[in-house]
Amino acid sequence: MANLLTLLFYVEMIVVSGFSLGASGLNMNYYLFSCPLAELIVKNTVNRALQNDPTLAAGLVRMHFHDCFIEGCDGSVLIDSTEDNTAEKDSPANLSLRGYEVIDDIKEALENQCPGVVSCADILAMAARDAVFFAGGPVYDIPKGRKDGTRSKIEDTINLPAPIFNASQLIKVFGQRGFSAKDMVALSGAHTLGVARCSSFKQRLTPLDPSLDSQFAKTLSKACSAGDSAEQPFDSSRNDFDNLYFNALVSNNGVLTSDQTLYTTPQTRNIVNTYAMNQALFFLDFQQAMVKMSKLDVKEGSKGEVRKNCHKIN
Ligand code: HEM
Repeated sequence: MANLLTLLFYVEMIVVSGFSLGASGLNMNYYLFSCPLAELIVKNTVNRALQNDPTLAAGLVRMHFHDCFIEGCDGSVLIDSTEDNTAEKDSPANLSLRGYEVIDDIKEALENQCPGVVSCADILAMAARDAVFFAGGPVYDIPKGRKDGTRSKIEDTINLPAPIFNASQLIKVFGQRGFSAKDMVALSGAHTLGVARCSSFKQRLTPLDPSLDSQFAKTLSKACSAGDSAEQPFDSSRNDFDNLYFNALVSNNGVLTSDQTLYTTPQTRNIVNTYAMNQALFFLDFQQAMVKMSKLDVKEGSKGEVRKNCHKIN
């Protein structure tokens, strides 16, 4: 009897922890039997890479976002262009994506361990999650089971939000994918990591964007004096996942139009204020929104494949 109860307890634990198929068919323990070390291999590889170059955390988080917003989270952003096809990664919006080599290292390790099992889309989703944690952000689990897509076309990237968007435009494009305004602001908090290049914000300098703090305008102009590719961190701690990005917005020190608009627009201003004052709440909302994003239009079962090489379809 005691053994039976113990067994029932474990079965329940597994079900509660997400082993049962959710509505989407993804689940937390997808690789439990087929590749039990998958999570560990991803985490260790990400940690090693970020110990060498902490700036890559930003690259991995952004790459996951750009993957999910175009064709769903299906690794389409990782595919290389061929003679007959210009892929997403060669779109101007993707030229500054970074961290492909980390995904390649993870894929190589996983193919050695359990060939043909772990999709590139799942690798990217797990790597982004581990990068957030490495940088000091929240720890959270994501369901797995995404398959890799076979379409990657430069023209699809027109659907990425532009840095010149105002809050209404951002609310609209995120809303079309099922995100609330609060989700969108929390996700924008990923800009607590990393940098923007001058080409992404120079239009705010002439004529001068009135929502830009005058001292900070000088900082941006100085950055741009080094050319279009010169980098400007979004906040004062580019490698730390914290809420300083929101504090920067409150001080009118947002780098992109699409950042500062979150504070200048009444509909989102209170959310920015709340996150600037309460980092724990930002972390909570961010992790929920990231899990939601990681489930965007995923391809399951025969709708996709597990690529052998993340750079090309099988
Ligand atoms: C709200 C709409 C968004 C817009 C318009 C936007 C736009 C941009 C732009 C223009 C850059 C700088 C690119 C460059 O100059 O090289 C950037 C960087 C970045 N974005 Fe976003 N983004 C948005 C939302 C997001 C979301 C939802 C995430 C992730 C969840 C994200 C993560 C990042 C990260 C981490 C960087 C820094 C990358 C690095 O340092 O390599 N962004 N974003």
